[in-house]
Amino acid sequence: MDLQDRRIGIEALAVHLPRNYLDLGVLARANGTDPEKYYFGLGCRRMAIPSADEDSVVLAARAAGTLLAGYGIEASSIGMVLVGTESGVDAAKPIATYVHRMAGLPSDCRAFDVQHACYGGMAALRTAANWVQSGLGRGRKALVIATDVARYDVGSPGEPTQGAAAVAMLVGDEPRVLELLPYPEAVHTAEVMDFWRPTYRSTALADGHYSMQCYLDALESCWHRFASATDLGLEAFDFLLYHSPFPKMAFKAHRRLCELAPGGTARGGADLDWERRVLPTLWANIEVGNAYSASLFVSLAGLLEHAEVDAAGARLGLFSYGSGSCAEFVAARVGPDAAAWRDRTGLRAALERRRELTHEAYLRSRRAYEERARDGSFRAALGGDGPAFCGTWNHQRVYRDSAWRAATGPSRSLDRPPRSAGPVAAPLPHRAQAAD
Ligand code: COA
Repeated sequence: MDLQDRRIGIEALAVHLPRNYLDLGVLARANGTDPEKYYFGLGCRRMAIPSADEDSVVLAARAAGTLLAGYGIEASSIGMVLVGTESGVDAAKPIATYVHRMAGLPSDCRAFDVQHACYGGMAALRTAANWVQSGLGRGRKALVIATDVARYDVGSPGEPTQGAAAVAMLVGDEPRVLELLPYPEAVHTAEVMDFWRPTYRSTALADGHYSMQCYLDALESCWHRFASATDLGLEAFDFLLYHSPFPKMAFKAHRRLCELAPGGTARGGADLDWERRVLPTLWANIEVGNAYSASLFVSLAGLLEHAEVDAAGARLGLFSYGSGSCAEFVAARVGPDAAAWRDRTGLRAALERRRELTHEAYLRSRRAYEERARDGSFRAALGGDGPAFCGTWNHQRVYRDSAWRAATGPSRSLDRPPRSAGPVAAPLPHRAQAAD
C-alpha cells in the first residue's frame, strides 16, 4: 500500500484530571458576582483545581501511564513522544523527557514539547500523524500528550475560566478512536497579543474580549480555507468540536460558522443545531473548565463517553485555536466501535472520583501550588504509596516514578475493548461533599 494511502489517527486515548474541583457558584458568591454570569454567561459549572503535587508533568505522566499500562502498549512500539503544553515547568527541559523516562521508552524515541498556547496539543497531534504517515518511524507509533494547568489571577476576569487536564493519545495507522481525514490543511496564523504568560509569571494574562475576536477571525479564515479546498460544507459534519476556553466561546464559534453557511444557518437554526451537533461534545468541558491545549481532546473524550450518543463512524470537524496566534480546522472520522470507549477513557471515572473544595480550600490550594513552584526544589511522587520524596538540589524538579503504573486500572486489550455494561445514567456527575 502507498504510504500516503494509509489511514492515520488516534488508536487509543486516556484522560487524567486533578483530584479536586471548585463550583463556579461558590466562586461567584465569594467574588460578589451573580452566579448566573458564570453558569450561563460563560457556560461553566465547575473547574478542576490542581493540588500542589499535580502540575502539568504529573498530569501528563498519569494520563500516559493510564494509556500505556491500561491498554498493554509495549514501550518498544513507540518511536516519538510529543507533549503539547503552555504550562510547562521549565523553560528548557521538556515534559516529554520526564514522561520518556517514567514510561521506560527506548532511547531511539524522539522526545520534545510543542508550545503554542492552546494549539500545542493539535500541533503535536498533526506532527506525530505526519511522522507516522511518512514511514520514517519504521512502523512505530507516537505518544502524544496534551497537558495544561490554566491559571489566572484571583479576582481577574479569567479566574472563572481556569481548569486543568491531560489527555494522552496513541497515534498510529490503526485509528480505532479517530481517523484524521486526508483533506488539505486549513491553517491560520497571525501575530496578535491576545493572551500571554511571561516566563516570570505562573498565571496568564489576557485581553479577553480581543482574544475572543481573534479566535472568531481565525475560525472564519480556517473555515474559508477548508471549504474552498474541499467539497464539504458545514452540513457534512455530524459533530463540531471547538476549542473551549469556556463553553460559551464554542457557542459563539458555532453561531459564526452557521452565519457563514449558505442560507445563514445550517440544519434548522443555529440554536437547535448547537444542541444537536455541539453540546454533546461539551458536557465534560463544563465540568473541567479550561485545560488550554487539552481542552479540545477533553471534548473528544466527552463525545466518546457521552451516555446517550453513539458517535460510531461520525464525521467530526475539530477547530483548534492557540492565542498568539495559530489555528486549524481538521476533519476526522470516529472509529466504528466508538461505544466501546464509553467508560474507558478515564474521563467519567475521574469526574466521579473528584472532591469539591470550599472557596477557602481553593485559595489555600493555589497558595500551596505557587509556593511549591517557586521554592526551586519541587519534588513529587506519582502514585500514593511509599516515601514521597527523593533528593533534589540546584533547582531541579524531581519526580519519583515507581508508582506511576499503580494509578492505572487492569490491563485492557486494544484489539477488543470490552463493551460498557450500558449507558451511564447521569450526564453530569455531581458530588455534594465538600473537602476542606
Ligand atoms: N447573568 C447571565 N449572563 C451574564 C450576566 C448575568 N448576571 N452577567 C454577564 N453575563 C454574560 C455577558 O452578557 C457575557 O455574555 P455574551 O458574551 O454572550 O454577551 C458573558 O456573561 C461574559 O460577560 P463579560 O462581561 O463579557 O465577562 P468578562 O468581561 O468579565 O470576562 C472573558 C469574559 C472571556 C473576557 C474572561 O473570562 C477572560 O478574559 N477569559 C480569559 C481569556 C479567554 O478565555 N479568551 C477566549 C479566547 S481563547
